[in-house]
Amino acid sequence: MNLKPIHHLGKVNWDVILKSLDSLLSVSGTFSGSSYTEITERQDSKHIRGELSQVFSILDEITAEIVHGVHTKGAVLLKGIGQSYNSEQQARILYLLSVMMGQPAAADKVSGQVIWDIRQRILPVGSQAYYATFSEGRGEAPFHTDTSFYPDPVKIIGLMCIKQAACGGGINRLAHLGDLKEKLQDTKHRWAYEYLSKVPLAFRIPGAFTFDQSPDIAEVIQSTVLSDKPSIRLRIDSIRKGADFYRHEYYRETMKSVSHLMTLADRDDVRLDLMMDEGDILLVNNHDVIHYRNAFSDARRHLLRIWIGQHDPVATSPDSVIRYPLEACFTSDREARKQAS
Ligand SMILES: [Fe+2]
Repeated sequence: MNLKPIHHLGKVNWDVILKSLDSLLSVSGTFSGSSYTEITERQDSKHIRGELSQVFSILDEITAEIVHGVHTKGAVLLKGIGQSYNSEQQARILYLLSVMMGQPAAADKVSGQVIWDIRQRILPVGSQAYYATFSEGRGEAPFHTDTSFYPDPVKIIGLMCIKQAACGGGINRLAHLGDLKEKLQDTKHRWAYEYLSKVPLAFRIPGAFTFDQSPDIAEVIQSTVLSDKPSIRLRIDSIRKGADFYRHEYYRETMKSVSHLMTLADRDDVRLDLMMDEGDILLVNNHDVIHYRNAFSDARRHLLRIWIGQHDPVATSPDSVIRYPLEACFTSDREARKQAS
């Protein structure tokens, strides 16, 4: 995979643009200007985009270049764009570019917050329905797409590196579906392609993202891993947990195919390794590219993430979500699985 690195974005006076952004954000009455955590998906991004584009025409030029790179290459790296700014300003640069590209989507369903801290988080305990997402831990995050458990996964992921891990871990890895498909056409791998493009799998929605936020109900969506839109959706822990509501044979076949895909993605001639530097922004096409992060031990590692949708925010309770009481889980199958492994 070849991503597009952009080292210079032309003459951009971010200080002036960020001041305008802050005043546009403050119109909502919920943004005091003190923290990026106050920016929510309820902001009128269409209005903000229109106002900014009218005054700062350079933003349209930059956005066109970035969007073209994201669509044609699968990812764009903006080198050092936030390097000489503090974290509040870096967050706003990330938000501003996201607004120019589409509709920022909430990372937290309750608050609507759109700029999400990716760093170690102490998780709530005692809730059976809750399970953590990769952004909350320091462990390895296997190849996946973001919001793969949503009926309509976000189109673009934006990441800003505030502090890289001093331990050398936390490296991002990308793999483009185009390269993967090439491999999957080979007769050796064709069986996996057939399974992943034809058999709908169950993706369980993590606790923080459920539509009903009920502790006794598991929410699941069904989709193939490979389809038309998005071209790929992948999240092995969500698929594994979704399979708890199905039979053992399904689980075994599913895991075999998904693991095969992830092994192909990890090949040297498919994957791209990337260590972001402080102040870099990475934009990834989440419909065509899967991403991975290796483990890290430095708890000060800090990235910001924003999800950028093409449309209005996802409906609060789409019909395509299936709800299961937690007791419907096939415990006997899970036991059988344990014995088999
Ligand atoms: Fe991710």
